[in-house]
Amino acid sequence: MRWVRACSKNEIKEGDVVSIDVDERQLMLIMQNGIIYALDRICTHMDADLSMGFLAEGQITCPLHLSSFRLEDGVALNPPAERPLRRYNIKIDGDDIYVQVG
Ligand code: FES
Repeated sequence: MRWVRACSKNEIKEGDVVSIDVDERQLMLIMQNGIIYALDRICTHMDADLSMGFLAEGQITCPLHLSSFRLEDGVALNPPAERPLRRYNIKIDGDDIYVQVG
């Protein structure tokens, strides 16, 4: 596992869903209640981009068939998606946000 810079701190603010490609992975960073979450942004059901979905308290909902995923751990909360989104550790170092991949 290694840390890869994703973006700078000032590129994300409360309520944002930011698309980031890191090492050929399609991720999204989400800031909610001051916490930054890093998750895969492609839905585990089909090929929908969750960064175009609907953010609510503690979850994001797919724009295509409306499965929701928990931000904390990526768990799919309702069908048709069944598999969780991969979640990534993040760290902030100075002005930069890093994501742990590998
Ligand atoms: S593509 Fe996301 S729920 Fe179907």
